[in-house]
Amino acid sequence: MQQIAKGVWKLVLGEPEQMTPEHFRSFPIKTEAIDEVPISHSRAFTEEEIGWKKSRRGITVTLPMRTNEDIYGFGLQLQGFDQAGKRRYLKVNSDPVADTGEGHAPVPFYISTAGYGLFVDTFRYTTFLMGTNTELGQSSGMTAENEDHEEFSEAAIYALKRAEEERKVIIDIPSADGVTIYLFEGNIMEVVQRYNLFSGGGCVPPMWGLGMWYRMYGGSSETEAKQFAEQFRKEKLPMDVLGLEPGWHSHSYSCTYRWSKLFPNHDKMIQEMDENGYKLNLWEHVYVYPKAPFYEKLKDYSGDYEVWNGLVPDFATKEACELFEEHHREEFVKKGILGFKLDECDNSDFNPSNWAFPDSTEFPSGMDGEQMHLAIGTLYQNLIYRIFKGEDKRTYSQVRSSGALAAPLPFVLYSDLYDHKQFIRGMVNSGFSGLLWCPEVRDCVNGDDLLRRVQTVVFSAHALINSWRIPSPPWKQTDIEKNLAGEEMETAVYYTDQCRKLFELRMSLLPYLYSAFVEYANTGKPPIRALVMDYPQDENARMIDDEYLFGESMLVCPLTYEDGTKRSVYLPEGEWFDFFTKEQVSGGRTIEVEADYDRIPVYVKDGSLIPLAEPVQCVTKDTVFTMHAELFGDKAAEFSLYEDDFETFEYEKNQAKLLLKKKPESELAIIRTGEGPMRYQF
Ligand code: GAL
Repeated sequence: MQQIAKGVWKLVLGEPEQMTPEHFRSFPIKTEAIDEVPISHSRAFTEEEIGWKKSRRGITVTLPMRTNEDIYGFGLQLQGFDQAGKRRYLKVNSDPVADTGEGHAPVPFYISTAGYGLFVDTFRYTTFLMGTNTELGQSSGMTAENEDHEEFSEAAIYALKRAEEERKVIIDIPSADGVTIYLFEGNIMEVVQRYNLFSGGGCVPPMWGLGMWYRMYGGSSETEAKQFAEQFRKEKLPMDVLGLEPGWHSHSYSCTYRWSKLFPNHDKMIQEMDENGYKLNLWEHVYVYPKAPFYEKLKDYSGDYEVWNGLVPDFATKEACELFEEHHREEFVKKGILGFKLDECDNSDFNPSNWAFPDSTEFPSGMDGEQMHLAIGTLYQNLIYRIFKGEDKRTYSQVRSSGALAAPLPFVLYSDLYDHKQFIRGMVNSGFSGLLWCPEVRDCVNGDDLLRRVQTVVFSAHALINSWRIPSPPWKQTDIEKNLAGEEMETAVYYTDQCRKLFELRMSLLPYLYSAFVEYANTGKPPIRALVMDYPQDENARMIDDEYLFGESMLVCPLTYEDGTKRSVYLPEGEWFDFFTKEQVSGGRTIEVEADYDRIPVYVKDGSLIPLAEPVQCVTKDTVFTMHAELFGDKAAEFSLYEDDFETFEYEKNQAKLLLKKKPESELAIIRTGEGPMRYQF
């Protein structure tokens, strides 16, 4: 094994394939930052204990696994949390029918509580057997388990279920002659930090990206987009980003990447939106319609199957990337578009509207369809990112498939699935693998369901209302049929007011969240994460998948409509404070919480200082946040705020840090270091 940074080891087995996530990496490893991350839990096995073999099927790698080991990660997992004792099949799939491991963004990376994490550098549909199987010879010497039955009841016959013997991790990588694996050492948090820094560090979105988002009805016109923009300002509903859905293309399935007749004065619209503080985001997908301007040139750099009559571009070739990049740069980015929603770059095994090109598809780069399904999401993000980087504008965009080494990419995952509990679990899980996830709000069962979903989304990486199927905002009408029929709810005013409060809460947290992202970039610590990352010693935290840390100090415990107004909340050891009422609660236990539909339980760690902004309607070039800081607990506390232009890459060179310090009963002290424009006033 070769050590490539502190606690990061590389192991090459056989002859690895050329086309892998590492081959396409476009961000350098943050080696110095990795050196700063401690290793407080050492790896529980030696290099000799890692086994591997090559067979006709491909490569199998084995590692020891102890009975008390818990496993996390594997990308965006919506249906499962602790992955120990499970078989994970890492195929990209938009609509997995069960907890198989498949999903929008499976990542061949897991973290074990045995002091290590492992990344398999492959675009193959890899299966990870996490303690489900043992090798021949393991059981023959066992006595107790292998005795004849005394009793023949159902319980006795099926008693031997969960293996008590030492288990194995078995990794099955098909079609490969070799593979490179990377081992990361430390406790759960340290392993995640190492993996993210190995990927290039977390992304830093523009400040506006963290504001409120609204996606328009699918077939909305330019006039309607402008009306909505005006209406939000009139109703004082904070809103930063407007997203245009398929109707902006002259043909959308597959795409022309050309404005439709619904947008006759699009350039002027972009300008007017900008003057009004709106950033525009355009929906698209990868499949290129024959009328797209670069169709003919792209033909030679596409796979040998079509999707929706369109080309499947080979983004592993420079040529295909350049054709996409040039068109998007000239037609959209230079004209002021600030982001894209990259749809359907996932797979569709279980969806009748088929966008799954065959796994046997051949691409000019030499990749096959299987590899491309796992690669296309990140390759697509990389090319869009390059355009914005080249124009010195930061983007915050959306994508429906992602994969390994994606932490530096400022893209948030989303889904057509809509189970609220799964959406919460998605947030908890995505933080293990360098991914960001959006629990977006669409139509709802009723107003209370709407509030529960909005509460979750304002405490997420991406505060999005996605109205692509409803012409009016959900706070005017939650029911899709009635919304389409133009009927407003009697309670529309009440729910509009409630949503406004939640949007304002989001806006007040922007600087706090921005700091969490700067930390993500510098230290690899995810801005939103599972409890088990911050409390690795706490056995109870190991199973919690419905609460999460939001930034350094806040513990968010959302309720779903199905929960009603009560839920159990696990608070780790220590003192906690209700974020809204400041009421003190002792941790190290599970408490029962009552929360009406207008309240989300949020707790703050003892000894935290939280900077809060007066909510603005949107973030512009001139926004200066009016700030104050709240101390939770009776100890002295600190917080680092980061100040820069909030929208270009200048922050990589010039960024000021404001160290806020507060003791009870004393004034807030602010120590500013570094260079950067002044964007906060206290
Ligand atoms: C879906 C996407 C939705 C919406 C829709 C438009 O694939 O997930 O959010 O954009 O396409 O047709």
